[in-house]
Amino acid sequence: MAFDIEMIKKVYAELPGKVEKTRQLLDKPLTLTEKILYAHLADEQPAAPYERGNSYVNFNPDRVAMQDATAQMALLQFMQAGKAKAAVPSTVHADHLIQAKVGADKDLATAEITNKEVYDFLSSVSNKYGIGFWKPGAGIIHQVVLENYAFPGGMMIGTDSHTVNAGGLGMVAIGVGGADAVDVMAGMPWELKFPKLIGVKLTGKLNGWTAPKDIILKVAGLLTVKGGTGCIVEYFGEGAESLSCTGKGTICNMGAEIGATTSTFGYDASMARYLEATGRADVAAAANEVKEHLTADSEVYANPEQYFDQLIEIDLNTLEPHLNGPFTPDKATPISQMREEAEKNGWPLKVEVGLIGSCTNSSYEDISRAASIAKQAAEKNLKAAGEFKITPGSEQVRYTIERDGLIDTFNQMGGEVYANACGPCIGMWARTGAEKQEKNTIVHSFNRNFAKRADGNPNTFAFVGSPELVTALAIAGDLGFNPITDTLKNANGEEVKLDEPTGHELPPKGFDVEDAGYQAPAADGSDVEVVVDPESERLQLLTPFTPWDGKNITGARLLIKAKGKCTTDHISMAGPWLKFRGHLDNISNNMLIGAVNFFNEETNMVKNQLTGEYGEVPATQRAYKAEGIPTIVVGDHNYGEGSSREHAAMEPRHMGVRAVLVKSFARIHETNLKKQGMLGLTFANEADYDKIMEDDTFNFLDLDAFAPGKPLQLEVVHADGSKEVIVANHSYNKQQIAWFKAGSALNLIKEQNK
Ligand code: F3S
Repeated sequence: MAFDIEMIKKVYAELPGKVEKTRQLLDKPLTLTEKILYAHLADEQPAAPYERGNSYVNFNPDRVAMQDATAQMALLQFMQAGKAKAAVPSTVHADHLIQAKVGADKDLATAEITNKEVYDFLSSVSNKYGIGFWKPGAGIIHQVVLENYAFPGGMMIGTDSHTVNAGGLGMVAIGVGGADAVDVMAGMPWELKFPKLIGVKLTGKLNGWTAPKDIILKVAGLLTVKGGTGCIVEYFGEGAESLSCTGKGTICNMGAEIGATTSTFGYDASMARYLEATGRADVAAAANEVKEHLTADSEVYANPEQYFDQLIEIDLNTLEPHLNGPFTPDKATPISQMREEAEKNGWPLKVEVGLIGSCTNSSYEDISRAASIAKQAAEKNLKAAGEFKITPGSEQVRYTIERDGLIDTFNQMGGEVYANACGPCIGMWARTGAEKQEKNTIVHSFNRNFAKRADGNPNTFAFVGSPELVTALAIAGDLGFNPITDTLKNANGEEVKLDEPTGHELPPKGFDVEDAGYQAPAADGSDVEVVVDPESERLQLLTPFTPWDGKNITGARLLIKAKGKCTTDHISMAGPWLKFRGHLDNISNNMLIGAVNFFNEETNMVKNQLTGEYGEVPATQRAYKAEGIPTIVVGDHNYGEGSSREHAAMEPRHMGVRAVLVKSFARIHETNLKKQGMLGLTFANEADYDKIMEDDTFNFLDLDAFAPGKPLQLEVVHADGSKEVIVANHSYNKQQIAWFKAGSALNLIKEQNK
């Protein structure tokens, strides 16, 4: 599917030299993570090693992947860069917008109607700019990437947190915001704080009911949802080598649930087998030639405590199957203790639904092992007590498991197949009766289980387990059922036991697919027209932001002085607003509606200085904009923390806010503001925050001399006519000042392209 073997060969050709240079620089044996990161530096090798957990480093990733929800604004922005093609191989995957309701075919047909304008846009914009487009029904981004694009030793960014799944094929693959994808596609480097390293040594071998999923469920229990923050997790040891490539993918996928930057495994025979089975024997052959550079130096794994910041050891021989939940993926309970835990905590024991598949657990191995349990239901005369749903990760997997009779097996136990899409994993599950909000339990093999994540019901207790365990629990209909020790009563009243799951790492007859759902881009897209209906409520072409006029901004009014926490969600709320994420003007109606106004402690209620009346923040800002009056937003500490959502910077820019002046910024948001051509400033003296009054007007005194390292003077005029000058610090470098002057980073790229 047009994976780029030439690009991969180039990466491998340069790898030995880069690794050697890095070894000299670091003067020690190298972890795999260090090899991959240093091999992808955008700049020349530094004079001294980067400091883990501290240095900000620019990288050149090899690939970009985008899902349909986040791709909309990313590609609308990319269009502003004036490029003929994306600078690196990139793909878009239509997977997030398909609702799971009555079954694959009908649900897909419905999605194609309801999301037509979005799909038409994504298909045409991809076609134009050399980007591969995976149509609705083709599969879930991370499964499709693993099957087609991931390669050992590569570096990829993707606009989805579970991009990390590609670590299963030995990549450093990282989930990012749309703005980062735009940078890389536009040919700019991508910045990351050099991560700390966690080593996970796997000894022994999985056996019986235990699956790769249980490794990550155990790790999540040990590290908690925050334990991986700022770290890359590197798995190794004999246990790692005994896992399938797709099993490794599952483990890396859920690395997102411990907050890890990403996770990865060294190249081994399982990866070669997977590459060969998925039509990429040439990638395997190329990887084999440089294989010593696609894993850590042997001394690292021999004495890991010397080379990792943190080390965990797990013995697979004794690892028990786990269920994690409810409401958080790090609450890990071994299956043998589940009944007791559930009874103690009042978790409903009756399992209503079991769901398998998703981007996390859709491999042939997963499905065949789950099917080996489902098959026993018929053979042993057991009727499944719970409902059972299957969400295949890709059309290739779906087609192959159907060909091999596995879907029939699931159907016999009452299973229902949903479209190859995110569906129930992202709350796109129109579950019958969910609106009644009854307390109930479901088990699934997905990754996240926060309240409302699957069906929108806050009282659904969701537990995460391996596909084979989920299947067993759906048959038993009992959360406390331990298939290792317990029996079930069948239709004849006999006590029967489920045998251990069995399966195939890869399909014995090979993968097959009739139509994978891939649209290759036009070789020359210059004549391709990007389809956006001007009447659309969901999509709007962007117009370039106006360049700075070179003058001091004067007469700027205070829009809001935000009090306390102001995250990207307070600045650009999610939920129902997400449907407008491709329409900047419409989504701007959520601008800052979650921020608390310092002066009245209310949200979305600020004073319009022109009328003296109080109104909603977006409407008030639109009133200033209509009069051509600039505005300023003032904020507290860590302003813009949370996600990397670029809308939080684009909306104020679009609405006419000129500067954001705060006690401190969350770094990503500060960078996003800079990219959009905004002024992101901090109080030189934090106490000056207290000087800002509701009716203040601001005059910049020396913006016309804006320069790196030189603070700005800001005159604050109070309602009584009194004035004071406060000092605003900034962290703009030369390049970022050029972005400001051009109106945005993309404007500058466009100018430079000319
Ligand atoms: Fe989709 Fe769920 Fe994965 S939303 S990308 S299937 S985490």
